[in-house]
Amino acid sequence: MYHITPLLTVLCLASHYALAAQPFDPLKHSGPASPYFDAPSQFGLPVGTPAGCIVDQAAYIVRHGARYPTSGSFAGWQNLFLKIHGANFTATGPLTFLPSWIPPVDDAPNEIDFLSTTGAAEAFNLGSQLRHRYGFTKGGGNLTVWSASEQRVLATASHFLRGYLSQGNYAILDGENRGTIVSLPDSVNFTFANSLTPTTSCPTFPTGDTSSRASTFRAAFQPAVADRLNRFLDGLALNATDIGVMQDLCGFQTEISGNSQFCDVFEPSEWLNYEYAHDLNYYYGSGPGNPFSGATGFPLVKTITDLFILGPNQTITGGTSVPPPLLMGFTHDNDLPPFIAALGLWNESSVSPLSPTTPDPERHFRASYLVAFRGYIALERLSCGALLGSSVRHVAGQINMMPGDGQDTQRYIRIKVDNAPVPVPGCTSGPSATCPLTEFASYIKKRGELVGDYVATCGLQDVANATGRADFFTNIPADSTISLPVGF
Ligand SMILES: *[C@@H]1O[C@H](CO)[C@@H](O)[C@H](O)[C@H]1NC(C)=O
Ligand SMILES: *[C@@H]1O[C@H](CO)[C@@H](O)[C@H](O)[C@H]1NC(C)=O
Ligand SMILES: *[C@@H]1O[C@H](CO)[C@@H](O)[C@H](O)[C@H]1NC(C)=O
Ligand SMILES: *[C@@H]1O[C@H](CO)[C@@H](O)[C@H](O)[C@H]1NC(C)=O
Ligand SMILES: *[C@@H]1O[C@H](CO)[C@@H](O)[C@H](O)[C@H]1NC(C)=O
Ligand SMILES: *[C@@H]1O[C@H](CO)[C@@H](O)[C@H](O)[C@H]1NC(C)=O
Ligand SMILES: *[C@@H]1O[C@H](CO)[C@@H](O)[C@H](O)[C@H]1NC(C)=O
Repeated sequence: MYHITPLLTVLCLASHYALAAQPFDPLKHSGPASPYFDAPSQFGLPVGTPAGCIVDQAAYIVRHGARYPTSGSFAGWQNLFLKIHGANFTATGPLTFLPSWIPPVDDAPNEIDFLSTTGAAEAFNLGSQLRHRYGFTKGGGNLTVWSASEQRVLATASHFLRGYLSQGNYAILDGENRGTIVSLPDSVNFTFANSLTPTTSCPTFPTGDTSSRASTFRAAFQPAVADRLNRFLDGLALNATDIGVMQDLCGFQTEISGNSQFCDVFEPSEWLNYEYAHDLNYYYGSGPGNPFSGATGFPLVKTITDLFILGPNQTITGGTSVPPPLLMGFTHDNDLPPFIAALGLWNESSVSPLSPTTPDPERHFRASYLVAFRGYIALERLSCGALLGSSVRHVAGQINMMPGDGQDTQRYIRIKVDNAPVPVPGCTSGPSATCPLTEFASYIKKRGELVGDYVATCGLQDVANATGRADFFTNIPADSTISLPVGF
């Protein structure tokens, strides 16, 4: 439980009104098919770094950028195409483009499962944005990032590094301004907690997955959408399966080819139902509604917290390398919700658990605001000092300290999900409702007790080498591979 001050309540209401005034954009309600967008602040918190503070450490867990379909979903697109192509029919109204539609995949072996150009741009932009925001790496310096090893995830890490490092003359200076990717085994069952895909090494995890609620919800709303659209077709009948494919194509086709014609086919209420099915899928599949999620996300949250307590440029006991002040981990959509669960976010009793049948407009758990392509969960360590006065004296030959840079600083933690600040439940006494670092450490300790130990919760007590520690940031695992991004 945490307390929202009256001011925050007012800001919340204000932001709801501001949202209501925007034209409805299906691309911001497409869950995991949405291209990246900065999520609106659901808690009315300001996005900027609070005055008087600098960020001196940050950790990002990032989903890969926009991709082509997986082979399974491409089969659905092809089925829709064959159904349309094989029929004599007349289309009217919003469907007049259907007779000329061709699935936007023109070189399947080199496209299916891989990043699209939109995904590459999303990753590059994040790199460029984080250099502006943090500037931890000086010109010519290296940055090491961590990534699950599936190609689209590695490609995201690679484009991120290009964005982060594309400044100055370093492109032609060998050995300077290099990016390094530590590539961790992806979605295997033998890395346990020490990976960016820790749920796949947790044998109990699938038993807690009740995401089939999403299919039930879809089955309840899609037939009426098909009926509505079939009024615009003579000689062809769309069914629930086709509606699922067509709503996915709004996001995917926009990302692949820039063509958003499927986005115009559906009504806002139909998009909100589509979105809610995704919310149910992630909440009950890998988020707070799966009783095993928190334990799988917790080990990395613990490591990040330990590194934040130590401060920048330090390693934890037993660490064999010093990680950079900016910790980057690239992974998959289903690997983000376990961190939300571990951190205890978006799951207040007033709005949880999610109803299997009735969306609560006040709920905080929103797939579109988390697992949009290149979505992320970020933790920032803030160092804050007294604000600059209205008159500041400069002494020749000296550079003044900025607030937060001096010795008498106070430290706070801020969490951002797709750039929107999310308060730590019960810990909001810092600037802009941030959480004092020492209180955050106690909060995380309590979360650990609540969500349970990885090895015990996953039933791995009898597996000799099962580990509940995620220490890859400070001990590069032997089974990881190191690569430089293409072109560096
Ligand atoms: C479509 O119409 C053409 C003639 O216009 C006809 O030859 C063909 O058999 C029809 N195909 C189907 C699948 O009905
Ligand atoms: C950057 O990394 C490269 C490759 O590991 C290394 O040769 C170089 O010395 C590093 N440069 C800096 C400034 O640390
Ligand atoms: C991992 O999967 C393999 C192959 O399915 C299986 O033999 C092995 O027992 C599994 N290991 C664990 C720790 O579950
Ligand atoms: C655990 O042991 C298995 C089987 O020997 C091996 O494949 C795996 O890499 C080990 N995992 C760790 C984290 O040491
Ligand atoms: C929709 O129609 C396709 C064939 O056109 C079929 O494969 C699919 O199973 C149908 N879906 C439903 C929910 O009836
Ligand atoms: C989320 O809230 C539900 C309902 O209060 C609770 O049962 C569940 O344990 C919570 N999940 C986490 C990860 O805290
Ligand atoms: C951390 O190390 C980097 C690279 O060595 C250096 O540029 C930076 O100033 C250090 N940061 C702090 C807070 O000591």
